[in-house]
Amino acid sequence: MEATRARILGIGAYSPEKVLTNHDLEKMVDTSDEWIVERTGISERHIAADDEASSDLATQAGRRAIADAGLTADDIDLLICASVTGDMPFPATACFVQANLGLKNAAAFDIAAGCTGFLYGLNLAQGLIRSGAYKRILLIGGEVLSRTLDWTDRATCVLLGDSAGAVVLGPAAEDEGGILATRIASDGTKAELLYIPGGGSRNPASHQTVDDRLHYFKMNGRETFKHATRNMAAIAKQVLEDSGLGLDDVNLLVPHQANLRIITYIAEQLGVPMEKVYTNVQRYGNTSSASIPLALTEARERGKLKKGDVVLMVAFGTGLTWGATLLRW
Ligand code: UT7
Repeated sequence: MEATRARILGIGAYSPEKVLTNHDLEKMVDTSDEWIVERTGISERHIAADDEASSDLATQAGRRAIADAGLTADDIDLLICASVTGDMPFPATACFVQANLGLKNAAAFDIAAGCTGFLYGLNLAQGLIRSGAYKRILLIGGEVLSRTLDWTDRATCVLLGDSAGAVVLGPAAEDEGGILATRIASDGTKAELLYIPGGGSRNPASHQTVDDRLHYFKMNGRETFKHATRNMAAIAKQVLEDSGLGLDDVNLLVPHQANLRIITYIAEQLGVPMEKVYTNVQRYGNTSSASIPLALTEARERGKLKKGDVVLMVAFGTGLTWGATLLRW
C-alpha cells in the first residue's frame, strides 16, 4: 500500500493595506507604467506598514489557514515559515509567529529557499507526514521584501511586493487526493545571481557596508530569467512523470508569480493554455515565498480551484533553487 500522502486542509493569505502603483513608482525612479507592464505584467503591489514585519503578515495568513481547516491553535504540531525577509537574523521568524498564534504544541523553524520556499516546505511536509512524525503542519510563506529594496534602483524596486500565504497540511485519507508528487532542486554555483550581500557573517553590518549599499536586494535579471525558465519547465515535467499523470490531467497551473513573461513562457513550453494558468502578479508583484499560497487562496476564492482538481505548482528563486509539486485538491 502506498504511504499516506499530505493534503492541504486549510488555506489563507494576507496582504498589507497600502498599494503602490506603477504611477507612484514613476514619481520615485526613472521608469514608466508602460515599461513595467510590458516587461513584467505588474501594475501594483502591496507594501507593509512601518510597524509590520514578516511575522505580522505571516501571523494573519496562518490564523486564516487554521480557521479554514476548522482547527484551533492547539492542533498544530509543527510550524514552518519560509522567508528571505525574516524579522531578525535570529531567532527564526517562525518563533515569533508561534508566539503570536499561541501554537504551544508546535516546534517552529524557518527555511530559506527564496521564492521556492513554499514548495520546499510542501516537499518537507510530505515527508514528515508520510513518516508519521507530524499530523498538523502549518506552512507559511511571508515576506516584507519592500524593506530590502533599493528605492533608487529601477531595475529591482518595481518587481517586488509584501504579502503572506499559508496552508495547514495533514494526512490524507485514501480517497482524498493530496500531494501526488514533489521535487526540489538547487544550484549553489549561481548563488550570486540574486542576493543581499551585507548583514550576515560574510559582510557584517558596518558604516562601510551601508555606504557600499550592500544591504539591498541585488539581481542579474537576464541570467535569472534564463535559468528560471529552463529549470521550471524541466522540473514541472518531472513531477508529472513521477505521478503518472499527463498535462491534459492538469486543471490549474499555479506558477510562482515573478513576471508574467516568465509565466507565459513556462505555460507555452509545457503546452498549458493560459485559461488554465492562475496569475495575480499584476496586482501583487513578486512576493517570493508568499506568491504561490497567495495565488492558491485567491484562485479558490474566485471559484477557479475546486475539490478534485489537479494543480501543478512550480517555482524558482535565489540559491538558485527551484521546485514543483503536483496535488489533487
Ligand atoms: O523570484 C526571482 C525574481 N527574479 C526574477 O523574476 C527576475 C527575472 N528577470 C526579469 O524578470 C527581467 O530580466 C527583468 C524584468 C528584471 C528585466 O527585463 P529585461 O527585459 O531583462 O530588461 P533588461 O534588464 O535587459 O533591461 C532593458 C533596459 C535597460 O536599458 P538599456 O541598457 O537597454 O538602455 C534597463 O536599464 O531596460 C532598462 N530598465 C528599465 N527601464 C525603465 C530596467 N529597469 C527599468 C525600469 N524602467 N524599471
